[in-house]
Amino acid sequence: MVTISVIGTGYLGATHAAGMAELGFDVIGVDTDPVKIRALAGGEVPFHEPGLPELLRRHVQTGRLRFTTSMAQAAAEADLHFVCVGTPQSLTGAADLSAVHAVIAELAPLLRRNALVVGKSTVPVGTAEQLTRRIASLIQPGIAVEVAWNPEFLREGHAVHDTLHPNRLVFGCAGPSAEWLLREVYARPIADGVPVVVTDLATAELVKVSANAFLATKISFINAMAELCEAAGADVLTLARALGHDERIGAQFLGAGLGYGGGCLPKDVRALIARADELGSGESVAFLRGVEEINQRRRDRIVAEALEVLRGGPGWRAGRVAVLGAAFKPHSDDVRDSPALEVAQRLHRAGALVTVYDPVAAVRARSVAPQLRYAANPHVACRKADVVLHLTEWPEFGSLDPVRLRAIVRNPVLIDARNTLDAARWLAAGWEFRRPGTVLPLVTQDRVAAG
Ligand code: UDX
Repeated sequence: MVTISVIGTGYLGATHAAGMAELGFDVIGVDTDPVKIRALAGGEVPFHEPGLPELLRRHVQTGRLRFTTSMAQAAAEADLHFVCVGTPQSLTGAADLSAVHAVIAELAPLLRRNALVVGKSTVPVGTAEQLTRRIASLIQPGIAVEVAWNPEFLREGHAVHDTLHPNRLVFGCAGPSAEWLLREVYARPIADGVPVVVTDLATAELVKVSANAFLATKISFINAMAELCEAAGADVLTLARALGHDERIGAQFLGAGLGYGGGCLPKDVRALIARADELGSGESVAFLRGVEEINQRRRDRIVAEALEVLRGGPGWRAGRVAVLGAAFKPHSDDVRDSPALEVAQRLHRAGALVTVYDPVAAVRARSVAPQLRYAANPHVACRKADVVLHLTEWPEFGSLDPVRLRAIVRNPVLIDARNTLDAARWLAAGWEFRRPGTVLPLVTQDRVAAG
């Protein structure tokens, strides 16, 4: 059985390393960050990912999963090296490949036997070919090192499931031995019944970014329809449900609301635009600028609506905003490009007193936005609020008691920016309930009468 190294132990690498150990391989996780490596070696996952701590601990204990900062150890022991380092957005919007290049520069001269280097990081098309040439110029004479690309489609919050039960496997291979080895690695039990697409390096690289660009486009499409619904007095939730019944369209990723964020979709859309420009094909993806603009307008829209409520309400001088959710999506503590946190920060800049509650992302949110207040529970966050914003759809927000909350706030106005709360419950409790893309009675008859 081959020994595997996983280089880069962030969300992707740590999950992949644990997943490979679960398949029975000896795995060495490598990272330049000694703090992260110490934590992982002790069975601690330094981010929130359901199920991962248990999987990791199990295989640290069996000894199948080890962690090191030594690339020399990885080079000496492994036959197959998965590259999982980050490719963040640079100032131009293009992907910053410095971590990928640093890995290759360190690993290639240390290799003493034939090896396969498999990229999993999301990279601009053409990177694998460039790395192949670089490796050839750096390795010792007499050994053969191939490069393959095996993009990863895991979602944060579902990373363990997506790693062990992928909906497809994509192998970008320059030659038959890479394909053979990748098929071996994924043979059991992952590949059972899972479609495997074997292709060239460039196509494999493009699959990943185009998948994310497509998902972003789908979200912006439904958010554009939400804008239209608002103008026309129609209902985007019903529209999305009706669209989703068409199997050619599909019901997923038609959730209209605050739009997409996180470490992948926004960056990958921008990187694809930048790479297409470099390739002289900018026109082909010009529509993606529209996708981004629609996405940004969702955040603008919620900020404007919250300010409108504050200005119309009694508490404008020191208007209090309760923000439910800081993570870019539920089941994650990731606040990278989080729509929720951006809205909260903009309202703070506009002069509001913003108090945020998030069940797991508060620590990370505080390190990015220390100027905001953070509450230990939703009730404290809502105390004397002039408007409550539902910005990340954590399941626990669905079971909040609107009657109890109404007694806590100063002004019972809720903006459900994620379109997932049960409007009837909030309306029945006397709240003014607002949601994007939907026409609702904003107040109940009771409240009209009371007002
Ligand atoms: C995404 C891809 O789904 C995954 O395949 C890839 O490997 C990495 O990027 P992730 O960033 O974890 O995964 O989150 P995802 O679940 O795709 O959500 C992205 C964003 O879109 C979130 O901010 C989410 O709130 C938003 N979203 C999603 C919507 O606004 N509406 C929807 O209907 C679905």
